[in-house]
Amino acid sequence: MRIKGVNMIGVIGGTGTTGQYVVRLLREKGVKFRCLVRSLAEATKTLGDGVELVEADVDTPVSIQAGLVGCDKLFLLTGHSPVMPDQQIRAIEAAKRAGVSHVVKLSGGDAIVQEDTLSAVGRDHYEIEKTLKSSGLGWTILRPGFFMQNFLQMASMVKEQEAVMMPAPADVQVGMIDARDTAAVAAAVLTGQGHENKIYSLSGTVYTPNQFAAALSKELDQKISFIQIPLESAINGMQEGGMPDWLISQQSTLMSMLAEGAFSASNTNIEKLTGSPPRSLGRFVSDHISVFTA
Ligand SMILES: NC(=O)c1ccc[n+]([C@@H]2O[C@H](COP(=O)([O-])OP(=O)(O)OC[C@H]3O[C@@H](n4cnc5c(N)ncnc54)[C@H](OP(=O)(O)O)[C@@H]3O)[C@@H](O)[C@H]2O)c1
Repeated sequence: MRIKGVNMIGVIGGTGTTGQYVVRLLREKGVKFRCLVRSLAEATKTLGDGVELVEADVDTPVSIQAGLVGCDKLFLLTGHSPVMPDQQIRAIEAAKRAGVSHVVKLSGGDAIVQEDTLSAVGRDHYEIEKTLKSSGLGWTILRPGFFMQNFLQMASMVKEQEAVMMPAPADVQVGMIDARDTAAVAAAVLTGQGHENKIYSLSGTVYTPNQFAAALSKELDQKISFIQIPLESAINGMQEGGMPDWLISQQSTLMSMLAEGAFSASNTNIEKLTGSPPRSLGRFVSDHISVFTA
């Protein structure tokens, strides 16, 4: 498929949770795109054959600039990291030098992307968004809510303890989004028209932690309990698991905000932008049930 005014789309972050689905959808749409990846061998293992790959690292802006030559649009995502603002700001500057005209950035949720939020990752995304908006490039910012895929990290807890344990009330409302829906919005924006200089909040559908445990119980045909644990216990668990201090600090702030209901918003932007309703929590659990049983 040829998109008006777009010859080639560059993708940074195509091997990750959301990016893999963006790549799959761009392939299905038959548009020309190229993934900038840190390791060609690892990316081929993850994405399979037939995807154009170029070795590039956001820590080395010259490699990003070279990798983006000939690209009109860029999908920009990198994972949690204390250096995420430096990485993404340098990637935006490199994209501009390479001749990219429109950057689609995956940001944080509305609840955290603020100048003075308690959340460090929210402040980081705010800084990157601000730079992108004043870069002179066209931009679209996607602000997804809590990823359902975060629950996959609870697989061993579910298997070993038949419980979901979180430092949050069982009935706290959380807007949850399947990364496949975030990717569907990204693909629609990358291949569609009229999305320049827009911020799309993708808060997802509201569910509770208890509903996640209930969906697992139904799918596994076995009682999975929800247990609210103190934040200190969650922090101890992250320390025992070897998580770095900066990430423990980020995660514990996000969990405290979640527990207080800060992520309870929802909207219908996914359906408006993709034409399909968001995937339900039940569908997510059913599609990933092997992770909780293997
Ligand atoms: N989890 C949530 O609930 C949530 C909610 C809202 C927003 N977010 C935001 O979503 C983003 C994370 O999305 P995700 O979970 O889909 O990502 P992810 O699975 O962590 O994947 C990160 C991607 O970035 C690439 N990357 C990392 N460092 C790189 C570098 N130096 N140079 C080039 N590429 C690099 C990785 O490539 P490799 O394969 O080489 O590692 C991978 O493709 C974060 O910005 C986060 O703040 C998360």
